[in-house]
Amino acid sequence: MRTGRIRLGVNIDHCATLRQSRYRDSARTCGQIVEPDPVAFALAAEQAGADGITVHLREDRRHIQDRDVARLRECLRTHLNLEMAPTPEMLSWAIDLKPDSVCLVPEHREEVTTEGGLNLLTVKGSLTKLVRAIKDADIQVSCFIDPDPLQIETAAALDSPCIELHTGAFANHFYNPVSRRRELGKLRTAAIRAHDLGLTVNAGHGINYINIAYLIDVPWLYELNIGHSILSRALYTGISEAISKMKACLDRYQEREP
Ligand code: PXP
Repeated sequence: MRTGRIRLGVNIDHCATLRQSRYRDSARTCGQIVEPDPVAFALAAEQAGADGITVHLREDRRHIQDRDVARLRECLRTHLNLEMAPTPEMLSWAIDLKPDSVCLVPEHREEVTTEGGLNLLTVKGSLTKLVRAIKDADIQVSCFIDPDPLQIETAAALDSPCIELHTGAFANHFYNPVSRRRELGKLRTAAIRAHDLGLTVNAGHGINYINIAYLIDVPWLYELNIGHSILSRALYTGISEAISKMKACLDRYQEREP
């Protein structure tokens, strides 16, 4: 039986996207008329019960900016999870900043948002040192991967103590019962295998207030990282209600048998 509530990590990138859509050319990232402020959003999310805040500092800085991440590092009371591409530049940035955790993600300029997991089979050689360097800096490290047994085995071989399973395919197939079942099956098998290998299992991408109920079929989830649906709901109901409602959804997970 699982004990303890599944954690809620709130991804605030889309809040920064909204700001950048108007104030991209401003020297400021907050204050005066520059809004919305992702840091204010993060603090309100924490106040409402978020267990951590996630940001993806992309190479092209299209949403979250360096200054946002520095302010978050100073202000957050919970957990700062930095998503980043596995590059030497981002590694030295992360070591200077010291987030609580780093999640390694693939990055392609053309994509609107992270579209697939990191293919550990192709980047394994270059990742071994990077994962070790992050761990040596006392930062937790995780790899964002598709729910594929080979990726799970490779994450374990890399000595990455944690993975984040990409739930995007499940979310995309949600309204087709046959393919939804198939995608859920992949997530379930991947989570069980990862747990058996001693990995901490997080998940995220495309999770919303409706499809989250189906994740009850996926055991061993430690944390879900959710952004778009929370921000969207917050536009109507406010941040506090949007977070409380998602936490109530997560509480239902707690009682399940793996
Ligand atoms: N996890 C990772 C690794 C992500 O890159 C993202 C954002 O693309 C999310 C979770 C959150 O996804 P969403 O905004 O669809 O909830």
